[in-house]
Amino acid sequence: MSSVLGKAGEIPPDTMAAFDVAGARIGVANLNGKYFGFNDVCPHRGCALVEGKLEGSTLTCPCHGSQFDVTNGALLRGPATTGIDAYELEVAGDELALKLPEEASETGFLAGVPLFAGLDSEALANLEAFTFRRTFASGQVIVEEGRTGNGLFVVLSGKVEVVKGLAQGNPRALAALGGRALRRAVPAR
Ligand code: FES
Repeated sequence: MSSVLGKAGEIPPDTMAAFDVAGARIGVANLNGKYFGFNDVCPHRGCALVEGKLEGSTLTCPCHGSQFDVTNGALLRGPATTGIDAYELEVAGDELALKLPEEASETGFLAGVPLFAGLDSEALANLEAFTFRRTFASGQVIVEEGRTGNGLFVVLSGKVEVVKGLAQGNPRALAALGGRALRRAVPAR
C-alpha cells in the first residue's frame, strides 16, 4: 500500500522537497538519485526541516541546528532529543510514492479509541491508512514536555509512563498508560 507524493524528477540531486499527506508534512531528500522520506517537522520546536541544509545524508534544522540522518531518521546532534520518523519510498518511473507499512492496512484498531468514537468505519479506515507503527526501547523518551508535538500516539502494546520533572532531574510519575507499544495514529498540525 502506498500514497503518491509527486514527481521524483522535480527534486534535484542533493536537495529536499516537502509534501502534504493527509495533513502530515513528509520531507523527501534526493541523495544522488536515492530518495529518503522523513517527518518534516523538527521534534525540537517544529520547524520545517526541508528548509534546512542537506550535506550528504546529514540534515541540519534551519532553526537551532539540530542534525538528523535522513536515511534512518537518527538524531546526530541536539538540541532536539529525539530523531525523526524515516519513511520508505517507492519510485515507479518518475512517480514517487510513500510506502505505507503493511500493518497500516490493518483496520479496526482506532475503533477502540474513545477520541474517534464518533467516526464511521470509512473515516476510521482513511485515518488508519496513514498510521505508522513505532517501537520504542525501554526508557526512551517519546514526547517531551515543552516540545512541539507532531503526532498522536495510540498504545498498542507495552506500557508508557507520564513523568514530570525529568529534565530537571526530579522525575515524578503522574500516570502509567496502556499495556502496549505505540503507533503513530494521526499526524497533528
Ligand atoms: S526547531 Fe529544529 S533545532 Fe530547534
